[in-house]
Amino acid sequence: MTYQQSIKHFEEFLQASEPEIAGFHPHFSQAFWEMLRHGGKRFRPNLLLAVVAGARPLMLSNAFLPALALECLHTYSLIHDDLPCMDNAHLRRGKPTLHTIYGETSATLVGDGLNTYAFYLLSIAKLDSSVKVALVKELAESGGIGGMIIGQALDCEFENHSLPLEQLKIIHTNKTAKLIAASLKMGALIANLSASLHDELGEFGLQLGLYFQIRDDIIDAVQEESQAGKPTRNDSQKNSYVNLLGLTEAKALLRAESSALHTRLAGFPGMIGENLKELLGEYFTEIV
Ligand code: IPE
Ligand code: IPE
Ligand code: MG
Ligand code: MG
Ligand code: MG
Repeated sequence: MTYQQSIKHFEEFLQASEPEIAGFHPHFSQAFWEMLRHGGKRFRPNLLLAVVAGARPLMLSNAFLPALALECLHTYSLIHDDLPCMDNAHLRRGKPTLHTIYGETSATLVGDGLNTYAFYLLSIAKLDSSVKVALVKELAESGGIGGMIIGQALDCEFENHSLPLEQLKIIHTNKTAKLIAASLKMGALIANLSASLHDELGEFGLQLGLYFQIRDDIIDAVQEESQAGKPTRNDSQKNSYVNLLGLTEAKALLRAESSALHTRLAGFPGMIGENLKELLGEYFTEIV
């Protein structure tokens, strides 16, 4: 299976994966998989697959459950991020947010369910137990209090308080970059890469994740909601790169980060580097 084929097969796998949920709740089962079915860029699973496809393509089908685990945890973070108590957003992935359709209680519980389901998926993956434990540790740390959760807590706590740039970098690194770095490191664990390559991918992932969130801050400022598939001009109370630096300087920083990432990308061996270049190409274009 090539990397391109794995992306396509992964999407088919995801669409066919809807878990059965017992009980007589009128809409929980429908709500549970809805945001996943609606798509999104699948950036995190594709990063994982890019590494596995580049280093050990025969392991690709074993990588689908961990890739889905990442997408479940990420999707839960979006469902909670959109709740009225957080960013209060009405649109996600081009569709009404879950809480606007099913109510806040169901949306909160779907998020909770996707969070724990992610770890269930890791537990049933066809991989050595020692690899699975390492994957659980990575996802729990980066997607939890060692990353996404503390980042989101800081992001919300400091709304309406302008922070220095070093602190904004800490927020963005935690809320977004650590899960992106985890996606690459989980690929490295599945492919049994050397510790040095695993760490190098992790460092690259942190830089890529920061780039991704700066880019997301710019998207909020320049795109229409129909383009972004989510509300834009929604960050006015947030610490964002656009709010702290201004749009022109935020864009200049994005260009500088993009060229630093290109340099780093050139250092990855063989098909790992090639697959990552292919995946990341569209993220290096100017945002319009
Ligand atoms: C949005 O993530 C939240 C951020 C971390 C910026 P994505 O931009 O990956 O959202 P989807 O998965 O494509 O919907
Ligand atoms: C969210 O950042 C990061 C997450 C952990 C979900 P944002 O709040 O900027 O993401 P969007 O713009 O709503 O997608
Ligand atoms: Mg947010
Ligand atoms: Mg948000
Ligand atoms: Mg945003």
